[in-house]
Amino acid sequence: MLKFRPIIYFIAIIAALGGLLFGYDTGVISGAILFINKEFQLTSFDTSIVVSAVLVGATIGALIGGILADVIGRKNTIIISAMVFAIGALLTALALDMATLISGRIILGLAIGAASMTVPLYISEVSPPSIRGKLVSLNQLFVTVGILSSYIIDYFLSLDGLWRWMLGLAVVPAVILGVGMLFLPQSPRWLVKRGRAQEARQILRRLLNPAEAEAEIIDIEGNLRIQEKGWRELFERSMVHPLIIGIGLAILQQVTGINTIIYYSPTIFEMTGINLASTAIFASLSVGIVNVLMTVVAIMVIDKLGRRPLLLIGIAGMSLSLAVLGTAFAIEESGALLGWITVISLMFYIASFAISLGPIFWLMIAEIYPLPVRGRAMSMATIVNWGANLIVALTFLGLIDLFGKAGTFWCYSIISIGAWIFVFFLVPETKGRTLEQIERRWKIGTKS
Ligand code: BGC
Repeated sequence: MLKFRPIIYFIAIIAALGGLLFGYDTGVISGAILFINKEFQLTSFDTSIVVSAVLVGATIGALIGGILADVIGRKNTIIISAMVFAIGALLTALALDMATLISGRIILGLAIGAASMTVPLYISEVSPPSIRGKLVSLNQLFVTVGILSSYIIDYFLSLDGLWRWMLGLAVVPAVILGVGMLFLPQSPRWLVKRGRAQEARQILRRLLNPAEAEAEIIDIEGNLRIQEKGWRELFERSMVHPLIIGIGLAILQQVTGINTIIYYSPTIFEMTGINLASTAIFASLSVGIVNVLMTVVAIMVIDKLGRRPLLLIGIAGMSLSLAVLGTAFAIEESGALLGWITVISLMFYIASFAISLGPIFWLMIAEIYPLPVRGRAMSMATIVNWGANLIVALTFLGLIDLFGKAGTFWCYSIISIGAWIFVFFLVPETKGRTLEQIERRWKIGTKS
């Protein structure tokens, strides 16, 4: 097993600030939009554009991020994303009209899309295999912390209607990310890919001990027979299985309904008939807190238990809780008991997501692709993920009109059963292996 130096934790934490911004900027709008609506007198159509512009931007950002990560490197792509995060935050905070606001949201989306793939990619490439799961999943932990802190900040700033501050505060982590990254090393694997093995060796020696650094370089170089590959090589025979895994998990992470809960939890809580004075705040906060805590649990066990058991246990829990949620709505006209069943199943759902598809989708797409095409392949999975996120966000309320609340949640529950079967048959265990060992697996075509 490779020994590593504590600096690796520092590197992962700085890079994971990209995740914090991803979470904050997607979460913050839910509180800010109430005031923006009033100030700009938005129609409900305008509102949905302001909210979903980020998702459109993120889909495009994931495409650009993939190309940049391969061409100018992972580190530089994260630095550029940090700058774009700061510009987007300032634009939205200072916007005097709808057009500026929407442009700012699209720009923020570009940064979110690029960072959402480049941060896990960068962390996975600097991590020793024995703690790679933990370090890459720090990014997802920061996403959940970002969402939770946006709820808390929204709450306090809403007392005085300070929506511009809600949006503008994101400049702070953006600056820390950009400046912090300047001091971090390039990804050694990207350097080897660019023929800069000597620099990679030096960096690996700072992260590992010298003998192990040497062994890693030989391994990376050995796997990298061809220097640069384009989009066409993505579709080689040996890539079929990893592509199916990445794209499949990308779609399944979204179509099992996570963001209907993240974006609409106050609405869902209200539907249960529980009459708390501050139902909406309670809803968002409790969902946010469970999401953070269970992601911590995932991080603690992911390199010991492995990815597959967590995925299988978590997705089973998601399907079960969605079925219960649907049933609770089917029985309807509630009473407190049914209301609480709903609340508990919602919490159970979030907890199950947080130990499975939440962190493990982003981790797996950073692990399973061969180095020559890693940036582009991750980019493809990420584009699909943001595209699916957009589709779910746009269709959720329509689905409820069409199938009713019960039908909609049952629908997500059945899709989750599909996700479980997908993982069971197609997703391999990657725990403890080097990225190069995982890579060789596709060429040999072995099962494990
Ligand atoms: C997903 C997001 C989601 C978040 C919630 C991420 O892994 O990609 O769509 O909002 O988890 O924690």
